[in-house]
Amino acid sequence: MTIRFDGKVAVVTGGAMGIGEAAARKFAELGAAVAILDRDAEAGAKTARALPAGKTRHAFYGCDVAVPAQVQKVMAAVTAEMGGIDVLVSNAGIQRYGDVVGTSEELWDEVMGVNLKGCFHAAKYAVPAMVQRGGGAIVVVGSVQTFTAVGNSAAYVTAKHALLGLVRAMSLDYAPQKIRVNCVCPGAIDTPMLRWAASLAPDPQKVMDTCDRMHPLGRVGRPEEVANAIAFLASDWASFITGASLLVDGGMLTPTGGMGFQEGGTGAATKQ
Ligand SMILES: NC(=O)c1ccc[n+]([C@@H]2O[C@H](COP(=O)([O-])OP(=O)(O)OC[C@H]3O[C@@H](n4cnc5c(N)ncnc54)[C@H](O)[C@@H]3O)[C@@H](O)[C@H]2O)c1
Repeated sequence: MTIRFDGKVAVVTGGAMGIGEAAARKFAELGAAVAILDRDAEAGAKTARALPAGKTRHAFYGCDVAVPAQVQKVMAAVTAEMGGIDVLVSNAGIQRYGDVVGTSEELWDEVMGVNLKGCFHAAKYAVPAMVQRGGGAIVVVGSVQTFTAVGNSAAYVTAKHALLGLVRAMSLDYAPQKIRVNCVCPGAIDTPMLRWAASLAPDPQKVMDTCDRMHPLGRVGRPEEVANAIAFLASDWASFITGASLLVDGGMLTPTGGMGFQEGGTGAATKQ
């Protein structure tokens, strides 16, 4: 058996760049029709156009996952225009920094709105379409911060922890409908988000070097390495896996102390 998604429709939130873009390309390469949902219309449309087409067609849908009416509208459009939804990759996320005292109400709500509630919205409006198809798979992009904390990242860490609760709850609720729900938890991955986080420090290269050293494999990950794990969890190869989390972290959380390199790491970059 090889992993293929011929005849399937995969929806990827935050698919314009980074891990989402790699996941969109992976599903397209494996035969799926891909719907990219992103709030960056220019980058999203460009990424959708660049996907390998073959016999399938791909599409971009402008959408802020934090806004339920927008998510509801685009999921309905994907279902009508692409024929249904088989796979949802809930990936859209933002990184913001601050401890609890230094985090404004607005920033807390922004992070929760995108990173946690955005996943709730995406699943809420994709699951009925999956049920119509007789089953499906949801893969949520968590983080090593689903299991551990870094300093100065209270809202982000909280949202990423909560996502695993949502994954587990949904895995139980939708198992009878043959919808599997799992979570991938990446270490530091070389994406626009990581480069932006590093750029906040006086010496971005030092941050990138520190990020390399945080992983026993000696380097940060590549987006396609996370996309491979996402495709696996969405595929029939993972047919008996649900409610699970899969670290894609180059061994980062294995040593005692886990993410021990706080000096110069991205979370430390903005802490006075
Ligand atoms: N890069 C890392 O080191 C890393 C590590 C662990 C987890 N993650 C997680 O992986 C996911 C993807 O991260 P990335 O590094 O590829 O980020 P990125 O910033 O490079 O790309 C994120 C994409 O999501 C889109 N997006 C952001 N907010 C959105 C919203 N409200 N609605 C719709 N689209 C939105 C952006 O426009 C962008 O296209 C995030 O959930 C992030 O928390 C990243």
